[in-house]
Amino acid sequence: MSSIKTKVKTTFFCQNCGTQYAKWQGQCNACKTWNTIAEELVKKPEKSDWETSNSSKKSASKPLKIKEINSTKEARLDTYNVEFNRVLGGGIVPGSLTLLGGEPGIGKSTLLLQIALKLPYKTLYVSGEESQKQIKMRAERINPNNESCYILTETKTQNIFKQIASLQPDIVVVDSIQTLHSDYIESSSGSISQIKECTTELIKYAKETATPVILIGHITKDGNIAGPKILEHMVDTVLQFEGDRNHVFRILRANKNRFGSTNELGIYEMQGSGLREVSNPSEVLISEKDEELSGNAISATLEGMRPLMIEVQALVSTAVYGTPQRSATGFNSKRLNMLLAILEKRAGFRLGAKDVFLNITGGITVDDPAIDLAVVASILSSNEDVPLPSNYCFAAEVGLSGEIRPVQRVEQRILEAEKLGFSTIFVSKYNKISIKPKGIKIKLISKIEDLVSFLV
Ligand code: TYD
Ligand code: MG
Repeated sequence: MSSIKTKVKTTFFCQNCGTQYAKWQGQCNACKTWNTIAEELVKKPEKSDWETSNSSKKSASKPLKIKEINSTKEARLDTYNVEFNRVLGGGIVPGSLTLLGGEPGIGKSTLLLQIALKLPYKTLYVSGEESQKQIKMRAERINPNNESCYILTETKTQNIFKQIASLQPDIVVVDSIQTLHSDYIESSSGSISQIKECTTELIKYAKETATPVILIGHITKDGNIAGPKILEHMVDTVLQFEGDRNHVFRILRANKNRFGSTNELGIYEMQGSGLREVSNPSEVLISEKDEELSGNAISATLEGMRPLMIEVQALVSTAVYGTPQRSATGFNSKRLNMLLAILEKRAGFRLGAKDVFLNITGGITVDDPAIDLAVVASILSSNEDVPLPSNYCFAAEVGLSGEIRPVQRVEQRILEAEKLGFSTIFVSKYNKISIKPKGIKIKLISKIEDLVSFLV
């Protein structure tokens, strides 16, 4: 009899999008990038490690009528972090796989270690990036007295599962998926086939034991989670941690959530002792000033379900060089150009020869169209050098013909503005408003000229 030899199989993967090819080619058919296809050694496993170490035989599942399926609400584990719970949709679902992505240094490890240290359950924090000593040092800054958090520095999944089998944790955190390595695949850690295999093993473990697993994922320079897109398809929830590294605010949002909405937002502030949950973001995003300055306007925006008052600052000055500069931080610069063109054409402001700088304070990025009106107001205010009253705020979109367009959930924005002590809010005339708040005046406008006549 001939001895059984494991056949070494190689496959070609596009390192950008994860598409698989039988042979090498210069360009990926799927994502059209050049020189991204690389050979990876793949050895097909007989059985994954989690299956062998957990020999209980489960019967195959049978089809059920939809009304026979038990629809009791998923019990969720409280993460003892209000913002994290909110983004997940009310806590973490047992047996779910959550992926947390974000730029290096933004605070992914800090956030998950902080949550792990606060949990009263038995938590296993697996790190392939830092030593136990490094993690201990970080833990001491955050919360030094914790009884139930275990730290494991290991990258081989087979060894991790061995430790899991003896420890039986209630929740597992892996920092990061790109450092994991499975014996069944020959290629190096972080390659497409390794990421796929390690994630599959972890999914199996999570589903069979109903243990939630949270993975940290690196992101590439263009902002996608490194590795195949398939990673995002495999997991239940994809969270993104973002913010400007030079600012203290960090925003957590869900890009995909099988157990909740993707509209929710968590806000944190990076401090010397870890991340502080910001429960009332409007108060911290608006800077305290003694005098009113020109070029500042406040917008009543909505991030997910949460109203958020955001300060917009504009600086309009005569261009010193030939071509005027336009620059926007935290706001789409194409949209800024569009709003400037509208002001020029519809309201007759000569901004063509001016430099325009726009900044959203707090280092956050806004894509709510309701911020348009505040952007326009701040530009007008800076151009005319007339400060806006600091108790005015704005919430409307501006259309190409200079019309002021309605925005969604305007009543919620008005009530938030009233709660924070604003005296006047500018909204579109076309918004249907049925509330009559006592503390705030609602100014309805329909054209950009209306705003100009109010302010200048
Ligand atoms: P880290 O969690 O290591 O980022 P990631 O895992 O996303 O790469 O966080 C990195 C930064 O956070 C680091 O530059 C230092 C800062 N930091 C604080 O400001 N305060 C703290 O308490 C901690 C632990 C980190
Ligand atoms: Mg890290």
